[in-house]
Parts: sequence; structure tokens; C-alpha cells
Amino acid sequence: MDTNTEHSELVVSPERFLQIKEAERISSSVTLRLSDHSYLPKVDEPRADWVASVAVPAFKALSRMGFLAPRFCTVGTGAGLDALAAVEILQARTVGFTDLHEDVLAYARGNIERNIISQDVELVGGVGDLLSPLSGSLSQLDLIYENLPNIPMVESEDLDEGQTSSTFIEERSEEIPGFAEKNLVALHYLALQQAHPLLRVGGRVLSSIGARIPLSEILALSSAARYNGSILTYTWKVQSEPHEVVGGFARWERAGLGPFHFYPVSVLEDTFARMSPAAAGAQALQIEKELAPHQILATDALAMVEKGEKVGHTVAILDSVKFPETDL
Ligand SMILES: C[S@@+](CC[C@H](N)C(=O)[O-])C[C@H]1O[C@@H](n2cnc3c(N)ncnc32)[C@H](O)[C@@H]1O
Repeated sequence: MDTNTEHSELVVSPERFLQIKEAERISSSVTLRLSDHSYLPKVDEPRADWVASVAVPAFKALSRMGFLAPRFCTVGTGAGLDALAAVEILQARTVGFTDLHEDVLAYARGNIERNIISQDVELVGGVGDLLSPLSGSLSQLDLIYENLPNIPMVESEDLDEGQTSSTFIEERSEEIPGFAEKNLVALHYLALQQAHPLLRVGGRVLSSIGARIPLSEILALSSAARYNGSILTYTWKVQSEPHEVVGGFARWERAGLGPFHFYPVSVLEDTFARMSPAAAGAQALQIEKELAPHQILATDALAMVEKGEKVGHTVAILDSVKFPETDL
């Protein structure tokens, strides 16, 4: 990585990093500029990167199903790489993107603009919470993607510092169902709620959720927010930012939330080795059962991380489809 005083810069090959062969709508060498607040793509370890190991397989699964997303939006885009993947794989032409910090959004806009080859893409960015900056500017969306953080902050954390907003969330004032609070998936629930009026009927939200909680609880988010839900893809990640994230889950587990589950990396590697994320999505509940004997509680996973060991977790893409509302 190149670093200078203003920003850091990464160069990513869509072919090698994202498994996108012969990109037609984005550059074959993607340059990403990042501010201190921007979520850092894990370019040296695709298995720890959300876009490479989670978003791209999910977008490909949708595209294979014949579902494209000319009207697309990502909530909490970070570096903007998820938007570029959607332009290439889902042929997004209207691209909404939000994030919490002005500088993150400005860099993301630059990254998207600089790396799009296609002339027909309109960018609609908004700084602020979830989808609120774009309500009124976007409607009839085909797809909303989000990979939002989960862990409530404690006083020593500050959302304005570095990449804190990629892992931690502020206390929310909205009403959140008890199961979502207990499982630390409040922001995913709120994003689903805010997405509903912005989607066309048949449009969908892909929620990228670290499945450290039972899949049944993840599926319950869709129905609680008035969607038809299913698991589109099921895969795994090496836990990135392990001290902060595992430490955060362990703290809340000790306080009575969760429990939250991690797994040995070798078990995840073996379990998912011969299966595509979409094939695993179709049998996610069965795979979850097979993994159960290998679960490691967050408090135990933290002890492993503190000894320098890697841990992993499963990731589910919750696919929530908006159905037509009948008159009530
Ligand atoms: C884990 S990072 C994911 C970044 C990117 N989507 C990706 O997949 O690589 C989470 C992102 O959500 C943003 N974020 C956190 N809370 C948010 C909120 N309430 N509204 C909008 N964005 C938020 C963070 O600043 C961060 O960029």
C-alpha cells in the first residue's frame, strides 16, 4: 500500500481479488483512495474481505438467477468497492451509496467514478445514517446491499476515530424487537425498515450478516420488517479486526447478550471447501447443524485471539424480498 499525507491508495485487480473475469464496466485495475475513516479492503487476504468473500458471490448468485439491479444502492459503502462490484456484476446504472463520514463518502465517490468505464452510470451519494440521506432522492430500487456493523459502543469508543464506525454502533433511539437487540443485529433490522419504501415490489435487500448467531434469528429479521426472507448464500470469513470485534462480542456476551459463535478456521475451510456460497446457502440450516459441535463462544474465541490465533465465523446473506402490500 502506498501512503502519503492525504490518503492511502490501494490497487486491486478485479480478476484476482474479486474473481471477476474480463470486467467490462469497471477498470481492470481498480485504484482505491481511502481516508483514515474508510473501511480498509483486505487486499492481501480475500478470505477476510467482505466484498471479495461475501458481496461478490452473492451478486453473482443473483445474476445467475437472472436478477440484475439497474437501480442499486449500498448502505455504508466504505471504500466504494461494493458499488463497483454491483456495476460490473448486476449492471447497476443508478448507484446510491451512503456512509457516516463526509470524507469516506467523498473518497468513495472518487473511487467509483475513477474506476467505472461505462458511460451510463449515475451516482447518488449521501452522508449520514443508514438510508436517511437518500430518502426523497431514490425510489423504485431493485436492490439494496448492506454490510453494517453490529457491536454497541462503550464510552471509551468514538465513532469519529479511525475505522471505529465500521465495527461499532451508537445507541439507537428507535424501537427494536427484543430478539434483534439480544443478537446485536439492530442496524440490520433498521436498514431493512428504511429500505422498504425505497424498493420496488419484488425488489430486495441483501443483508450481509456475520452469522455468529443462529440462522433462524437472522431469518426472523426479514419477517419482522415485512419481507419474505431466505438465505441466499452461506460462506465464511477469517475474523477481521479480531481484537476489536471478538473483544466486542465477548463483552456483550458476558453482559448476557448472544451467545455469539466463532469457529476454528480449519473447520470452516473443510466444511465449505467443495461448495459454492450459493450451494451452501441452499443447505445453510443443515451446515449450521454440522458445524454446531465446533462452535467457540466469543469469550473463548477472545482468549485464542489474544494468543495470536486466527478464528473465523460464518456469514449469511439474508435475501429479503418486498412483497405487494394488500389493503389492510
Ligand atoms: C464493515 S464496513 C463495510 C464497508 C463496505 N460496505 C464493504 O463491504 O467493504 C461498514 C461500513 O458501514 C458504515 N456505517 C456504519 N454505521 C453506519 C450508519 N448508521 N449509516 C451508514 N453507514 C454506516 C461504516 O462507516 C463502514 O463504512
